[in-house]
Amino acid sequence: MTTSDEILLSIEGLTVSYGAVEAVRGIDLTVKRGEIVTLLGANGAGKSSTLNALVGLAPRKARRMLFDGTDLLALPPETIVRRGMTLVPEGRRVFSSLTVDENLMLGGAKHAARGNPAAVKTNMLELFPILAERLHQKAGSLSGGEQQMLAIARALMSSPDLLLLDEPSLGLAPQVVDRIFDLIGNLRDRGLTILLVEQNVVQSLEIADRGYVLANGRVELQGSAADLRASPEIQDAYLGA
Ligand SMILES: Nc1ncnc2c1ncn2[C@@H]1O[C@H](COP(=O)(O)OP(=O)(O)OP(=O)(O)O)[C@@H](O)[C@H]1O
Ligand SMILES: [Mg+2]
Repeated sequence: MTTSDEILLSIEGLTVSYGAVEAVRGIDLTVKRGEIVTLLGANGAGKSSTLNALVGLAPRKARRMLFDGTDLLALPPETIVRRGMTLVPEGRRVFSSLTVDENLMLGGAKHAARGNPAAVKTNMLELFPILAERLHQKAGSLSGGEQQMLAIARALMSSPDLLLLDEPSLGLAPQVVDRIFDLIGNLRDRGLTILLVEQNVVQSLEIADRGYVLANGRVELQGSAADLRASPEIQDAYLGA
């Protein structure tokens, strides 16, 4: 699927403060339908705070926060998911004592308004054959990579238009990281729009259309993935040139 010019998400002047800590200091960000946009930056730059703020899980202020024509500032987290934006948080939180199947159905049940959970689950099991094999196994007994697949599949059970992924490759072996990036590409090819937070700068810029680099809660650099890859700042800081 090709990127359209339709703006799906548009944020202006977003700030996130935790008491005296200003984690995000006024950022502007847009995501067009069909794009993969990557949000890069060092530890503590404000990447997770930004994603959490989008779904209403971090204390946020903004001049404007529009998703698919809806004002996000007015909506509680449950409603945001129902409107079609879902976050896979950092650290792949699955319910360890529940089975793969139960984890998936919980992801779907909460948001049944967006589709028939049984039908969506059939799709998920086609997309993630490993989860079909492990359907009745406890999620806590899955490998790290399998748990990340489950966390993503569970988020997809709400049939989002925009998927927010917070460091999906963190702590996984290189081969598993490759599988996660392949999956992200497949999801985009199926029409999903993705905002991807990553530490893995090389692979993220290979897969993304555009990117933003955050530093100390501000946008330090932005542009097409190709321009960012070629920029001296990225070359020096991340690519070891
Ligand atoms: N709940 C919180 N309470 C207080 N401070 C917080 C909270 N969450 C994050 N912070 C602070 O806000 C800043 C940005 O954190 P954030 O988690 O957004 O960074 P990040 O870019 O996701 O980093 P990482 O790459 O380590 O995940 C940090 O200084 C962090 O300590
Ligand atoms: Mg983070």
